[in-house]
Amino acid sequence: MPTVVSVVVLCLLVAVLLATQCPGEPGLTNSDANAVRLSPADTTGSVPLEQTIATRRSVRSFTGEALSNEQIGQLLWAAQGITDAQRGFRAAPSAGALYPLEVYVVTAAGVYHYEPHGHVLRLRTGGDHKAALAQACLGQPCVQQAGANFVFTAVYSRTQAKYGQRARSYVDIEVGAAGENLLLQAVALDLGAVMVGAFRDEAVVQALQLPADHYPVLVIPVGHPA
Ligand SMILES: Cc1cc2nc3c(=O)[nH]c(=O)nc-3n(C[C@H](O)[C@H](O)[C@H](O)COP(=O)(O)O)c2cc1C
Repeated sequence: MPTVVSVVVLCLLVAVLLATQCPGEPGLTNSDANAVRLSPADTTGSVPLEQTIATRRSVRSFTGEALSNEQIGQLLWAAQGITDAQRGFRAAPSAGALYPLEVYVVTAAGVYHYEPHGHVLRLRTGGDHKAALAQACLGQPCVQQAGANFVFTAVYSRTQAKYGQRARSYVDIEVGAAGENLLLQAVALDLGAVMVGAFRDEAVVQALQLPADHYPVLVIPVGHPA
C-alpha cells in the first residue's frame, strides 16, 4: 500500500515534469536555452497585398538596427511557415509537398535554423557571422548592415527522390516563391529587403557551418531602411 507521503511525492514529480514540457512540441522544453519560440504569426495584417506588390523595391541600405523576434518570426512564417497544421502544408508551394528548403537566420547574435513545425528558431552558433556572410556574398555591404539575413538552403535529395532531374528546376521555382513571400512581408512590416544571388556557395557553407546537404540558394538581407 502506498503511503500518503509517497503519493504526494509522486504527484509533485509528475507536476514538475509536465511544467517543464512545452505542449505540442516534442523535445522542446522551457529549459531549452538554444530555442527561441516565435510568437504566432499575424495572418490578417493591415496592408493590402496589392500595396505591397506596388511599393516593393530592392533596398540595399540599412541602419543596422536589429529586427525584433516578432518581425523575424513573421518573415519566416511568410516564407516557410505552416499554414495547414493538419497536413503540414506551408505558406509557399512545394512540388509534391516535399519541402526541400531549410532557412537559416543570421543576426548579430548568431546563426539560427528555422523549424516550421513549432515555429521555433534554434541557435546553431553564437556570435556575429554577418561579416563572414557578407564576404561570401562578394562583399555586398547590405549583408553586413542588415538586421537579419535569411539564408535559404535546399536539400535537393528530398525532391530528387520523386522527381529526378526536374528537382533542380523545382527547387529554383520554390525558392523564388518563398523569397517573394518574404519580400512582400518585409514591405508590410515597413522593412527593406533585397534578394542576393551573388555569393560563393562554398564560402556561405563555411561561414555558417551548414550541414553538408544544405546547399545555399538565396540570401535575403532585411533591415530598417537607412
Ligand atoms: C535571382 C536574383 C538575384 C539577385 N541578386 C542580387 C545581388 O546579389 N545583389 C543585389 O544587390 N541585388 C540582387 N538582386 C536584385 C535585383 O538587382 C533587383 O531585383 C533588380 O534591380 C530590380 O529592382 P527591384 O527589385 O527594386 O524591382 C537579385 C535579384 C534576383 C531576382
